[in-house]
Amino acid sequence: MEEQQKSSHVVLVMVTFQGHMNAALQLATILHSKGFSITIVHLELNSPNPSNYPEFTFVSIPDNLTESQLSDKDIPGLVRRVNKNCAAPLQKCLEKILHSHHHISAVIYDSFMFCAQPIVDDLGLPGVTLCTHSALGLLFYHVFPQLNEKDCISGLESPELQALQLQGFHALSSQNPTEAGMEVGAAFANALKSSSAIIVNSMEFLELEVLSKIKQYLPTPIFIVGPLHKLAPTMCNSLCTEDNKCISWLNKQAPKSVIYVSFGSIVNIDKQELIETAWGLSNSKQPFLWVAMPSMDRGSEWTESLLNGLEESVGERGFIVKWAPQKEVLAHAAVGGFWSHCGWNSTIESICEGVPMICRPFFGDQILNASYICNVWKIGLESQNLERGNIERTIKRLMVDMEGNYIRKRAMDLKEKAAFYLMEDGSTSGSFDGLAKHISSV
Ligand code: UDX
Repeated sequence: MEEQQKSSHVVLVMVTFQGHMNAALQLATILHSKGFSITIVHLELNSPNPSNYPEFTFVSIPDNLTESQLSDKDIPGLVRRVNKNCAAPLQKCLEKILHSHHHISAVIYDSFMFCAQPIVDDLGLPGVTLCTHSALGLLFYHVFPQLNEKDCISGLESPELQALQLQGFHALSSQNPTEAGMEVGAAFANALKSSSAIIVNSMEFLELEVLSKIKQYLPTPIFIVGPLHKLAPTMCNSLCTEDNKCISWLNKQAPKSVIYVSFGSIVNIDKQELIETAWGLSNSKQPFLWVAMPSMDRGSEWTESLLNGLEESVGERGFIVKWAPQKEVLAHAAVGGFWSHCGWNSTIESICEGVPMICRPFFGDQILNASYICNVWKIGLESQNLERGNIERTIKRLMVDMEGNYIRKRAMDLKEKAAFYLMEDGSTSGSFDGLAKHISSV
Protein backbone atom coordinates (compact mmCIF):
# COMPACT_ATOMS: atom_id res chain seq x y z
CA MET A 1 0.00 0.00 0.00
CA GLU A 2 2.91 2.35 0.80
CA GLU A 3 4.09 2.30 -2.87
CA GLN A 4 0.66 3.23 -4.11
CA GLN A 5 0.60 6.17 -1.67
CA LYS A 6 3.98 7.61 -2.70
CA SER A 7 2.33 10.03 -5.14
CA SER A 8 -0.57 10.86 -2.80
CA HIS A 9 -0.60 14.38 -1.56
CA VAL A 10 -2.43 15.55 1.55
CA VAL A 11 -3.02 19.18 2.45
CA LEU A 12 -3.48 19.79 6.16
CA VAL A 13 -5.17 23.04 7.19
CA MET A 14 -4.47 23.85 10.81
CA VAL A 15 -5.25 26.54 13.34
CA THR A 16 -2.35 27.78 15.35
CA PHE A 17 -3.55 27.13 18.87
CA GLN A 18 -1.02 24.99 20.73
CA GLY A 19 -3.28 21.99 21.43
CA HIS A 20 -4.58 21.94 17.85
CA MET A 21 -1.22 22.43 16.20
CA ASN A 22 0.37 19.55 18.15
CA ALA A 23 -2.25 17.08 16.95
CA ALA A 24 -2.10 18.27 13.32
CA LEU A 25 1.70 18.03 13.10
CA GLN A 26 1.72 14.63 14.78
CA LEU A 27 -0.92 13.35 12.34
CA ALA A 28 1.04 14.79 9.39
CA THR A 29 4.21 13.05 10.62
CA ILE A 30 2.46 9.68 10.72
CA LEU A 31 0.83 10.13 7.32
CA HIS A 32 4.21 11.10 5.87
CA SER A 33 5.71 7.91 7.28
CA LYS A 34 2.98 6.05 5.40
CA GLY A 35 4.10 7.56 2.09
CA PHE A 36 1.99 10.69 1.73
CA SER A 37 3.56 14.00 0.74
CA ILE A 38 2.38 16.78 3.02
CA THR A 39 1.57 20.45 2.62
CA ILE A 40 0.72 22.31 5.82
CA VAL A 41 -1.45 25.41 5.45
CA HIS A 42 -1.32 27.59 8.55
CA LEU A 43 -2.20 31.07 9.79
CA GLU A 44 0.46 33.78 9.80
CA LEU A 45 0.15 34.40 13.50
CA ASN A 46 1.82 31.78 15.72
CA SER A 47 3.22 29.91 12.75
CA PRO A 48 5.06 26.61 13.32
CA ASN A 49 8.80 26.32 12.79
CA PRO A 50 9.27 24.73 9.32
CA SER A 51 12.88 23.79 10.07
CA ASN A 52 11.55 21.16 12.50
CA TYR A 53 9.82 19.47 9.56
CA PRO A 54 12.04 19.71 6.47
CA GLU A 55 9.99 16.98 4.76
CA PHE A 56 6.79 19.10 4.70
CA THR A 57 5.90 22.12 2.57
CA PHE A 58 4.57 25.00 4.69
CA VAL A 59 2.29 27.68 3.27
CA SER A 60 0.92 30.54 5.34
CA ILE A 61 -2.32 32.38 4.70
CA PRO A 62 -3.05 35.93 5.86
CA ASP A 63 -5.31 35.86 8.93
CA ASN A 64 -5.65 39.56 9.70
CA LEU A 65 -5.41 38.80 13.41
CA THR A 66 -3.48 40.60 16.10
CA GLU A 67 -1.65 38.96 19.03
CA SER A 68 -4.23 40.36 21.45
CA GLN A 69 -7.13 38.94 19.41
CA LEU A 70 -5.52 35.51 19.63
CA SER A 71 -5.67 35.57 23.43
CA ASP A 72 -9.31 36.69 23.36
CA LYS A 73 -11.39 34.95 26.07
CA ASP A 74 -14.35 34.65 23.70
CA ILE A 75 -13.19 31.49 21.90
CA PRO A 76 -16.29 31.07 19.65
CA GLY A 77 -15.92 34.72 18.64
CA LEU A 78 -12.27 34.13 17.83
CA VAL A 79 -13.01 30.96 15.85
CA ARG A 80 -15.71 32.82 13.90
CA ARG A 81 -13.25 35.61 13.11
CA VAL A 82 -10.53 33.16 12.02
CA ASN A 83 -12.93 31.48 9.59
CA LYS A 84 -14.24 34.78 8.26
CA ASN A 85 -10.77 36.22 7.74
CA CYS A 86 -9.23 33.07 6.32
CA ALA A 87 -11.89 31.71 3.93
CA ALA A 88 -10.90 33.75 0.85
CA PRO A 89 -7.11 33.38 1.36
CA LEU A 90 -7.57 29.63 1.95
CA GLN A 91 -9.54 29.26 -1.29
CA LYS A 92 -6.79 31.07 -3.23
CA CYS A 93 -4.11 29.02 -1.54
CA LEU A 94 -5.80 25.68 -2.33
CA GLU A 95 -6.35 26.73 -5.95
CA LYS A 96 -2.67 27.57 -6.21
CA ILE A 97 -1.58 24.25 -4.69
CA LEU A 98 -3.97 22.39 -6.96
CA HIS A 99 -2.56 24.24 -9.97
CA SER A 100 1.05 23.39 -9.11
CA HIS A 101 0.52 19.81 -7.86
CA HIS A 102 -2.36 18.85 -10.19
CA HIS A 103 -3.54 16.44 -7.55
CA ILE A 104 -4.62 16.64 -3.92
CA SER A 105 -5.81 13.34 -2.41
CA ALA A 106 -7.57 15.01 0.50
CA VAL A 107 -7.70 18.22 2.48
CA ILE A 108 -7.63 17.44 6.19
CA TYR A 109 -8.73 20.45 8.19
CA ASP A 110 -8.88 21.16 11.92
CA SER A 111 -12.52 21.17 13.01
CA PHE A 112 -12.03 24.83 14.05
CA MET A 113 -11.28 25.63 10.37
CA PHE A 114 -14.70 24.57 9.12
CA CYS A 115 -14.60 27.22 6.36
CA ALA A 116 -12.41 24.71 4.50
CA GLN A 117 -15.27 22.27 3.79
CA PRO A 118 -17.40 24.48 1.47
CA ILE A 119 -14.18 25.52 -0.30
CA VAL A 120 -13.07 21.95 -0.96
CA ASP A 121 -16.63 21.06 -2.03
CA ASP A 122 -16.36 23.87 -4.54
CA LEU A 123 -13.02 22.63 -5.82
CA GLY A 124 -14.27 19.04 -6.00
CA LEU A 125 -11.80 17.82 -3.37
CA PRO A 126 -12.53 15.45 -0.48
CA GLY A 127 -12.48 17.15 2.93
CA VAL A 128 -11.63 15.29 6.14
CA THR A 129 -12.28 16.79 9.58
CA LEU A 130 -9.62 16.50 12.28
CA CYS A 131 -11.10 16.63 15.78
CA THR A 132 -8.56 17.59 18.41
CA HIS A 133 -11.26 16.96 21.00
CA SER A 134 -12.75 13.65 22.11
CA ALA A 135 -15.40 11.56 20.35
CA LEU A 136 -17.65 12.78 23.17
CA GLY A 137 -17.09 16.32 21.87
CA LEU A 138 -18.34 15.12 18.49
CA LEU A 139 -21.44 13.65 20.12
CA PHE A 140 -22.21 16.90 21.91
CA TYR A 141 -21.34 19.35 19.20
CA HIS A 142 -22.68 17.46 16.22
CA VAL A 143 -25.13 14.70 17.11
CA PHE A 144 -26.99 16.15 20.09
CA PRO A 145 -27.81 19.55 18.56
CA GLN A 146 -29.69 17.66 15.87
CA LEU A 147 -31.84 15.76 18.34
CA ASN A 148 -34.29 17.10 20.85
CA GLU A 149 -33.31 16.89 24.53
CA LYS A 150 -35.78 14.07 25.20
CA ASP A 151 -34.14 11.90 22.54
CA CYS A 152 -30.69 12.70 23.89
CA ILE A 153 -31.60 11.71 27.41
CA SER A 154 -33.69 8.66 26.61
CA GLY A 155 -30.87 7.35 24.42
CA LEU A 156 -28.35 7.55 27.23
CA GLU A 157 -29.18 4.29 28.94
CA SER A 158 -25.78 2.92 29.92
CA PRO A 159 -24.17 3.92 33.24
CA GLU A 160 -21.28 5.50 31.34
CA LEU A 161 -23.48 7.69 29.20
CA GLN A 162 -25.74 8.47 32.13
CA ALA A 163 -22.80 9.72 34.16
CA LEU A 164 -21.81 11.92 31.29
CA GLN A 165 -25.28 13.13 30.56
CA LEU A 166 -26.02 14.19 34.10
CA GLN A 167 -22.80 16.04 34.70
CA GLY A 168 -21.71 17.12 31.27
CA PHE A 169 -24.79 17.72 29.18
CA HIS A 170 -26.62 19.82 31.74
CA ALA A 171 -23.54 21.85 32.63
CA LEU A 172 -23.01 22.55 28.98
CA SER A 173 -26.57 23.22 27.93
CA SER A 174 -27.26 25.41 30.95
CA GLN A 175 -24.58 27.82 29.79
CA ASN A 176 -26.30 30.35 27.54
CA PRO A 177 -24.65 29.97 24.15
CA THR A 178 -23.54 33.25 22.64
CA GLU A 179 -24.52 34.25 19.13
CA ALA A 180 -20.98 33.43 17.99
CA GLY A 181 -21.20 30.06 19.78
CA MET A 182 -24.41 29.15 17.96
CA GLU A 183 -23.06 30.28 14.60
CA VAL A 184 -19.82 28.38 15.05
CA GLY A 185 -21.70 25.25 16.22
CA ALA A 186 -23.98 25.33 13.17
CA ALA A 187 -21.08 25.89 10.77
CA PHE A 188 -19.16 23.00 12.35
CA ALA A 189 -22.18 20.70 12.03
CA ASN A 190 -22.67 21.75 8.39
CA ALA A 191 -19.05 21.09 7.54
CA LEU A 192 -19.30 17.62 9.07
CA LYS A 193 -22.29 16.81 6.87
CA SER A 194 -20.23 16.89 3.69
CA SER A 195 -16.93 15.84 5.21
CA SER A 196 -15.80 12.49 3.74
CA ALA A 197 -14.35 11.24 7.05
CA ILE A 198 -13.64 12.30 10.62
CA ILE A 199 -10.35 11.76 12.44
CA VAL A 200 -10.37 11.73 16.25
CA ASN A 201 -7.29 11.78 18.48
CA SER A 202 -8.60 9.27 20.99
CA MET A 203 -8.38 5.61 21.97
CA GLU A 204 -11.36 3.38 21.26
CA PHE A 205 -11.46 1.68 24.67
CA LEU A 206 -11.87 5.07 26.36
CA GLU A 207 -15.01 5.98 24.45
CA LEU A 208 -16.64 2.74 23.31
CA GLU A 209 -20.21 3.65 24.24
CA VAL A 210 -19.94 7.19 22.96
CA LEU A 211 -18.57 5.90 19.67
CA SER A 212 -21.38 3.42 19.22
CA LYS A 213 -23.86 6.21 20.00
CA ILE A 214 -22.30 8.47 17.36
CA LYS A 215 -22.42 5.69 14.79
CA GLN A 216 -26.19 5.40 15.33
CA TYR A 217 -26.64 8.91 14.01
CA LEU A 218 -23.64 9.80 11.88
CA PRO A 219 -22.89 7.73 8.76
CA THR A 220 -19.51 9.40 8.08
CA PRO A 221 -16.52 7.06 8.62
CA ILE A 222 -14.66 7.83 11.85
CA PHE A 223 -10.99 6.99 12.33
CA ILE A 224 -9.80 6.86 15.94
CA VAL A 225 -6.07 7.42 15.63
CA GLY A 226 -4.79 8.39 19.07
CA PRO A 227 -2.85 8.84 21.17
CA LEU A 228 -1.03 10.85 18.52
CA HIS A 229 1.66 12.15 20.89
CA LYS A 230 2.79 8.57 21.55
CA LEU A 231 2.72 7.55 17.90
CA ALA A 232 4.57 10.45 16.28
CA PRO A 233 8.26 11.14 16.98
CA THR A 234 8.62 13.63 19.82
CA MET A 235 9.49 16.75 17.87
CA CYS A 236 9.00 19.92 19.92
CA ASN A 237 6.03 21.85 18.52
CA SER A 238 5.85 24.36 21.33
CA LEU A 239 5.00 27.93 20.43
CA CYS A 240 6.56 29.01 23.74
CA THR A 241 10.06 28.23 24.94
CA GLU A 242 10.05 25.24 27.27
CA ASP A 243 11.76 25.85 30.59
CA ASN A 244 13.76 22.67 31.18
CA LYS A 245 15.07 23.83 34.55
CA CYS A 246 11.90 22.41 36.07
CA ILE A 247 13.16 18.89 35.24
CA SER A 248 16.28 19.43 37.40
CA TRP A 249 13.97 20.67 40.16
CA LEU A 250 11.70 17.60 39.73
CA ASN A 251 14.76 15.34 39.96
CA LYS A 252 15.20 16.54 43.56
CA GLN A 253 11.63 15.75 44.66
CA ALA A 254 10.30 12.56 46.25
CA PRO A 255 8.41 10.07 44.04
CA LYS A 256 4.77 11.05 43.34
CA SER A 257 4.99 14.07 45.66
CA VAL A 258 4.57 16.94 43.18
CA ILE A 259 1.32 18.46 42.00
CA TYR A 260 1.78 19.79 38.45
CA VAL A 261 -0.48 22.76 37.63
CA SER A 262 -1.23 23.91 34.10
CA PHE A 263 -4.31 25.36 32.45
CA GLY A 264 -3.21 24.82 28.83
CA SER A 265 -2.49 27.37 26.17
CA ILE A 266 -5.78 29.25 25.75
CA VAL A 267 -7.23 29.73 29.24
CA ASN A 268 -6.81 33.16 30.77
CA ILE A 269 -7.42 33.15 34.52
CA ASP A 270 -8.38 36.39 36.25
CA LYS A 271 -6.60 38.18 39.09
CA GLN A 272 -8.76 36.74 41.87
CA GLU A 273 -8.24 33.16 40.66
CA LEU A 274 -4.53 33.79 40.37
CA ILE A 275 -4.41 34.95 44.01
CA GLU A 276 -6.52 32.00 45.22
CA THR A 277 -4.40 29.53 43.22
CA ALA A 278 -1.21 30.96 44.70
CA TRP A 279 -2.56 30.76 48.28
CA GLY A 280 -4.11 27.34 47.78
CA LEU A 281 -0.77 25.97 46.53
CA SER A 282 1.12 27.66 49.34
CA ASN A 283 -1.25 26.41 52.06
CA SER A 284 -1.37 22.85 50.72
CA LYS A 285 2.25 22.33 51.85
CA GLN A 286 2.74 20.02 48.85
CA PRO A 287 5.59 20.51 46.36
CA PHE A 288 4.21 22.06 43.17
CA LEU A 289 5.26 22.92 39.64
CA TRP A 290 3.04 25.67 38.22
CA VAL A 291 2.85 26.80 34.61
CA ALA A 292 1.84 30.43 34.96
CA MET A 293 2.03 31.22 31.27
CA PRO A 294 2.58 34.51 29.43
CA SER A 295 -1.09 35.01 28.52
CA MET A 296 -1.96 35.03 32.26
CA ASP A 297 -1.02 38.67 32.26
CA ARG A 298 2.59 37.55 32.84
CA GLY A 299 4.94 40.45 32.51
CA SER A 300 2.57 42.80 34.32
CA GLU A 301 4.12 44.21 37.48
CA TRP A 302 1.22 42.99 39.60
CA THR A 303 1.37 39.34 38.45
CA GLU A 304 5.15 39.16 38.64
CA SER A 305 5.13 40.50 42.18
CA LEU A 306 2.46 37.95 43.22
CA LEU A 307 4.45 35.08 41.72
CA ASN A 308 7.75 36.32 43.16
CA GLY A 309 6.11 36.64 46.58
CA LEU A 310 4.81 33.07 46.30
CA GLU A 311 8.22 31.73 45.29
CA GLU A 312 9.82 33.51 48.24
CA SER A 313 7.28 32.22 50.74
CA VAL A 314 7.37 28.57 49.59
CA GLY A 315 11.11 28.47 48.79
CA GLU A 316 12.35 25.18 47.31
CA ARG A 317 8.90 23.62 47.67
CA GLY A 318 7.52 25.35 44.59
CA PHE A 319 8.69 25.99 41.02
CA ILE A 320 6.98 28.39 38.60
CA VAL A 321 7.60 28.43 34.85
CA LYS A 322 6.08 30.19 31.86
CA TRP A 323 5.98 26.97 29.83
CA ALA A 324 6.99 23.42 30.72
CA PRO A 325 7.97 20.35 28.65
CA GLN A 326 4.61 18.90 29.71
CA LYS A 327 4.93 15.37 28.35
CA GLU A 328 8.29 14.95 30.09
CA VAL A 329 6.87 16.44 33.29
CA LEU A 330 3.90 14.06 33.34
CA ALA A 331 6.21 11.10 32.74
CA HIS A 332 8.50 12.14 35.63
CA ALA A 333 8.50 9.86 38.69
CA ALA A 334 8.16 12.83 41.07
CA VAL A 335 4.81 13.92 39.63
CA GLY A 336 1.85 12.54 41.57
CA GLY A 337 -1.02 14.73 40.39
CA PHE A 338 -2.05 17.08 37.61
CA TRP A 339 -4.29 20.05 38.34
CA SER A 340 -5.57 20.79 34.87
CA HIS A 341 -8.08 22.71 32.78
CA CYS A 342 -8.77 19.32 31.12
CA GLY A 343 -7.92 20.22 27.55
CA TRP A 344 -8.12 17.01 25.52
CA ASN A 345 -4.37 16.80 24.85
CA SER A 346 -3.59 17.26 28.53
CA THR A 347 -6.20 14.63 29.41
CA ILE A 348 -4.79 12.03 27.01
CA GLU A 349 -1.20 12.82 28.00
CA SER A 350 -2.08 12.40 31.68
CA ILE A 351 -3.88 9.08 31.05
CA CYS A 352 -0.89 7.70 29.16
CA GLU A 353 1.37 8.44 32.15
CA GLY A 354 -1.09 7.27 34.83
CA VAL A 355 -1.22 10.67 36.57
CA PRO A 356 -4.46 11.33 38.51
CA MET A 357 -6.02 14.75 38.01
CA ILE A 358 -7.72 17.67 39.71
CA CYS A 359 -10.17 19.10 37.21
CA ARG A 360 -10.78 22.80 36.77
CA PRO A 361 -12.47 23.02 33.35
CA PHE A 362 -13.15 26.51 31.99
CA PHE A 363 -15.17 26.17 28.79
CA GLY A 364 -16.30 23.99 25.88
CA ASP A 365 -15.03 20.43 25.67
CA GLN A 366 -13.00 20.86 28.87
CA ILE A 367 -16.28 20.43 30.80
CA LEU A 368 -16.97 17.15 29.01
CA ASN A 369 -13.44 15.89 29.57
CA ALA A 370 -13.69 16.68 33.29
CA SER A 371 -16.89 14.67 33.38
CA TYR A 372 -15.14 11.68 31.81
CA ILE A 373 -12.22 12.02 34.26
CA CYS A 374 -14.30 12.35 37.45
CA ASN A 375 -17.45 10.36 36.70
CA VAL A 376 -16.60 7.69 34.14
CA TRP A 377 -12.92 6.77 34.43
CA LYS A 378 -12.84 8.03 38.03
CA ILE A 379 -9.22 9.11 37.82
CA GLY A 380 -9.67 12.62 39.17
CA LEU A 381 -11.39 15.04 41.51
CA GLU A 382 -13.48 18.03 40.58
CA SER A 383 -12.46 21.52 41.71
CA GLN A 384 -14.88 24.05 40.34
CA ASN A 385 -14.60 26.35 43.32
CA LEU A 386 -11.31 28.18 43.01
CA GLU A 387 -11.15 29.43 46.57
CA ARG A 388 -7.90 28.91 48.52
CA GLY A 389 -9.39 26.68 51.24
CA ASN A 390 -11.07 24.48 48.67
CA ILE A 391 -7.92 24.25 46.57
CA GLU A 392 -5.86 23.28 49.61
CA ARG A 393 -8.37 20.57 50.61
CA THR A 394 -8.62 19.16 47.08
CA ILE A 395 -4.84 18.96 46.69
CA LYS A 396 -4.58 17.12 50.02
CA ARG A 397 -7.43 14.74 49.08
CA LEU A 398 -5.53 13.73 45.95
CA MET A 399 -1.93 13.86 47.15
CA VAL A 400 -2.15 12.80 50.81
CA ASP A 401 -5.46 11.10 51.68
CA MET A 402 -6.48 7.46 51.18
CA GLU A 403 -9.02 8.62 48.60
CA GLY A 404 -6.07 9.77 46.45
CA ASN A 405 -4.53 6.30 46.59
CA TYR A 406 -7.66 4.72 45.09
CA ILE A 407 -7.78 7.34 42.36
CA ARG A 408 -4.06 6.87 41.63
CA LYS A 409 -4.57 3.10 41.36
CA ARG A 410 -7.33 3.59 38.78
CA ALA A 411 -5.14 6.07 36.85
CA MET A 412 -2.35 3.45 36.77
CA ASP A 413 -4.81 0.81 35.54
CA LEU A 414 -5.89 3.12 32.73
CA LYS A 415 -2.25 3.79 31.84
CA GLU A 416 -1.71 0.03 31.52
CA LYS A 417 -4.75 -0.29 29.29
CA ALA A 418 -3.42 2.53 27.10
CA ALA A 419 0.00 0.85 26.86
CA PHE A 420 -1.66 -2.44 25.93
CA TYR A 421 -3.85 -0.69 23.36
CA LEU A 422 -0.75 0.86 21.80
CA MET A 423 0.93 -2.54 21.50
CA GLU A 424 -2.12 -4.34 20.17
CA ASP A 425 -2.14 -5.09 16.46
CA GLY A 426 -5.06 -3.71 14.59
CA SER A 427 -6.09 -0.98 17.03
CA THR A 428 -4.39 2.29 16.18
CA SER A 429 -2.23 0.94 13.38
CA GLY A 430 -5.35 -0.55 11.82
CA SER A 431 -7.07 2.80 12.01
CA PHE A 432 -4.17 4.47 10.27
CA ASP A 433 -4.14 1.91 7.48
CA GLY A 434 -7.89 2.42 7.12
CA LEU A 435 -7.42 6.18 7.03
CA ALA A 436 -4.60 5.91 4.48
CA LYS A 437 -6.75 3.67 2.30
CA HIS A 438 -9.71 6.04 2.64
CA ILE A 439 -7.64 9.08 1.64
CA SER A 440 -6.13 7.27 -1.33
CA SER A 441 -9.48 6.07 -2.57
CA VAL A 442 -11.74 9.15 -2.22
C1 UDX B 1 -7.42 23.62 23.31
C2 UDX B 1 -8.70 23.57 24.17
O1 UDX B 1 -8.58 24.40 25.31
C3 UDX B 1 -8.98 22.16 24.58
O2 UDX B 1 -10.14 22.14 25.36
C4 UDX B 1 -9.18 21.33 23.34
O3 UDX B 1 -9.49 20.02 23.72
C5 UDX B 1 -7.90 21.38 22.50
O4 UDX B 1 -7.59 22.73 22.22
P1 UDX B 1 -5.40 23.79 25.11
O5 UDX B 1 -6.16 24.67 25.99
O6 UDX B 1 -4.13 24.31 24.63
O7 UDX B 1 -6.24 23.20 23.91
O8 UDX B 1 -5.15 22.46 26.01
P2 UDX B 1 -4.66 21.03 25.64
O9 UDX B 1 -5.56 20.34 24.69
O10 UDX B 1 -4.44 20.36 26.92
O11 UDX B 1 -3.27 21.25 24.90
C6 UDX B 1 -2.18 21.89 25.47
C7 UDX B 1 -0.91 21.31 24.90
O12 UDX B 1 0.17 22.15 25.27
C8 UDX B 1 -0.61 19.91 25.43
O13 UDX B 1 -0.14 19.09 24.37
C9 UDX B 1 0.50 20.13 26.44
O14 UDX B 1 1.44 19.06 26.52
C10 UDX B 1 1.18 21.37 25.90
N1 UDX B 1 1.77 22.16 27.01
C11 UDX B 1 0.97 22.82 27.91
C12 UDX B 1 3.13 22.21 27.11
O15 UDX B 1 3.86 21.58 26.31
N2 UDX B 1 3.68 22.95 28.11
C13 UDX B 1 2.94 23.63 29.02
O16 UDX B 1 3.53 24.30 29.89
C14 UDX B 1 1.53 23.57 28.91
